[in-house]
Amino acid sequence: MGNIFSELADEIHASANVEVAAAKRDICLFTEYVLRDASGLPIKLKEFHKQMLRAMVTERLLVIEAFRGSGKSTLSCVAYPLWCLMKNIDIRIMLVTESDVLAKNWLREIERYMGTSQYIALAGNLVPGRGDRLTWTSSEKIVVGRSADAQGASILAVGAHGQIRGRRVDRIIADDLVSENNSHTLYQREVLENWFHAALMPTLDIPMNQEAGDPLFGVDSPMRDKFVKEIGGQIIYLDTPLYDNDLSWKLRQKWAAA
Ligand SMILES: Nc1ncnc2c1ncn2[C@@H]1O[C@H](COP(=O)(O)OP(=O)(O)OP(=O)(O)O)[C@@H](O)[C@H]1O
Ligand SMILES: [Mg+2]
Repeated sequence: MGNIFSELADEIHASANVEVAAAKRDICLFTEYVLRDASGLPIKLKEFHKQMLRAMVTERLLVIEAFRGSGKSTLSCVAYPLWCLMKNIDIRIMLVTESDVLAKNWLREIERYMGTSQYIALAGNLVPGRGDRLTWTSSEKIVVGRSADAQGASILAVGAHGQIRGRRVDRIIADDLVSENNSHTLYQREVLENWFHAALMPTLDIPMNQEAGDPLFGVDSPMRDKFVKEIGGQIIYLDTPLYDNDLSWKLRQKWAAA
């Protein structure tokens, strides 16, 4: 009898290992392994969720337009940052939403999942203890275990028009930046677009070509898009379009040409 039980335990253990290994390799399996729905059960992804996640791991300049409640924020502001940190402990991610309160809410969700046994089985413990003396505020987190030369926050949560001068990040996740509050008038939309190009995009840390001077100079530099696409960095822009020819439409055109 004892043998049957121990064989069964070994089998369960082995299949758990297979599941963990698969979740480390595939962002869809990762998301289904780590995330929970409102009833606490493992999330089930539909085909369009899988398409969104696969686009996030492959595209550098990505616009995702989807309907309200389609899971955009859960996938981009929770699953994807958790995945990125598992893959690269030194990565720097900025979450940007209409308000910093919303961005901080998503950051709290990330933190919650970091404490789960599922995530710890995949990525280890990333949450600092008391003795670690790492920045761990509601808007800025530095995870445990980074390389000695890693700089800047692991994850930053900011609102549209937020103060981000001097920040350098590897990934920007801009989720529902445009809202009725900040984009009701044409003037408001122009101000937001200007902040997007002049303040947000330059935070992407991409190696400069010194010989060519500053090829990224200019508020809305097509060169910057090309650099992001070919050299490094990533921006994911997600929304449910509210206005004709709004930012998501413009970015789609611009980034298709990069
Ligand atoms: N794959 C999934 N399976 C089950 N529930 C999900 C899934 N993805 C998201 N949810 C749940 O659906 C609800 C809406 O998700 P979320 O807020 O991510 O969508 P959204 O597209 O960002 O919505 P909005 O357009 O309002 O910002 C949340 O309660 C979330 O927990
Ligand atoms: Mg959302």
